[in-house]
Amino acid sequence: MELEEAAPVQEVVSCRVCGGSDWQPVVSFGPVPLANNFLEAATSYADEPRFPLGVISCRACRLMSLTHVVDPDVLYRKYFYVTSDSRTITDHMRYVAGLCKEQFDLSEGAFVVEMGSNTGEQLAEFRDLGMRTLGVDPARDLAALAAERGVETLPDFFSAAIARRIKKEYGTAQLLLGRHVFAHIDDVADVAVGVRELLDPAGVFAVEVPYAVDMLERSEFDTIYHEHLSYFGVGTLAELFDRHGLRVIDVQRLSVHGGSIIVFVGRDDGPWQVHPRVHELRKLEADVGFYEDGTYERLAESAETIRTSLAELVRKLVSDGKRVAGYGAPAKGNTMLCVSELGANEIEFVTDTTAQKHGRVLPGSHVPVRTPEYGKANPPDYYLLLAWNYADEIIEKERAFLEAGGRFIVPVPEVTVVSAEGPGRMP
Ligand code: TMP
Ligand code: ZN
Repeated sequence: MELEEAAPVQEVVSCRVCGGSDWQPVVSFGPVPLANNFLEAATSYADEPRFPLGVISCRACRLMSLTHVVDPDVLYRKYFYVTSDSRTITDHMRYVAGLCKEQFDLSEGAFVVEMGSNTGEQLAEFRDLGMRTLGVDPARDLAALAAERGVETLPDFFSAAIARRIKKEYGTAQLLLGRHVFAHIDDVADVAVGVRELLDPAGVFAVEVPYAVDMLERSEFDTIYHEHLSYFGVGTLAELFDRHGLRVIDVQRLSVHGGSIIVFVGRDDGPWQVHPRVHELRKLEADVGFYEDGTYERLAESAETIRTSLAELVRKLVSDGKRVAGYGAPAKGNTMLCVSELGANEIEFVTDTTAQKHGRVLPGSHVPVRTPEYGKANPPDYYLLLAWNYADEIIEKERAFLEAGGRFIVPVPEVTVVSAEGPGRMP
């Protein structure tokens, strides 16, 4: 229990965006292990730390927040998550670099700072466009990987204090990036202050987050894990930035990670006009019930339906003598397995392309992680597609598995079985 003693967990009391405290309870999954805490194989996992996992929704600004926040030093200083080495993500990073450059006239030599820069892959795209780059990431091992790639990285959490230091040592930033990191930050107000401080008057902050509307509409409840403190819509982000001398100037919906948005933010004294897309998406949010309790009640219901039907299907397959394995070991897969109460008795192994995960077991379910080559040599009858956000890429890549009679179980937006003939309902 060493980790637990060193890891205070705090209950969320007031909203990190608006300060409100009128919370609608949404889901509660009980004590769950940390989704990226891949373990060494052991005979007993009795000491595995678990923390409460649940979501609430602020009735004032509709921030969806975790009920509890785990100390970020525990979550991120030794971090297993490395940006996926997938075609989808590589293409996406190139797209983001091009989009920012075109839309905001970034010239060669522009200074680009990324918070949560991980192994520096995104910044390398900007460097290849001739820009100066600096990463900020607390994961010490990953900063070393970024350095190998030639991307200078400060091994720290982005904050107002770090922003001041960067400004002093390097000057203001023409572009600040935060891709899939903002939802991991508790003190978003401090980060917004830092952004305002570090941005050039005509600079832009590009923040990419999973889109709460997509999560709600596609029942992506497995994206709930201890690292994802916040689930944002544009309206909630606009409320936050408005409070800190910033304003949302443009937004685009993206298909990555189950549906995301990239929100462009400028200083309130900056030159950028607010694009009509911002108003359109905020209107869409109101139209689809983002501000109504019923929408969140439906998320809880669909999570329950998926959890029970997935567990039922997998147990039935196993009792019929079928072999079931998992495809991908993403963090969200651990929520899916823990909440569905599926473990090593049902799921023989999971394959993953990430070397750091091989030879370990998944947190909570303790299913062993194998290489893709192991999966090829021991193909199961069914692969549960835990990395469903790469469904198109993976199903295309695994044609041979399907042609040989293999099937994929895709858990969201509803449990579906995919064979060589295409998707079907549950058998
Ligand atoms: P992510 O959704 O956070 O990027 O995590 C996806 C995980 O799935 C990551 O551990 C890599 C893994 N993965 C595979 O194992 N095979 C694949 O083909 C792809 C695209 C991802
Ligand atoms: Zn709020």
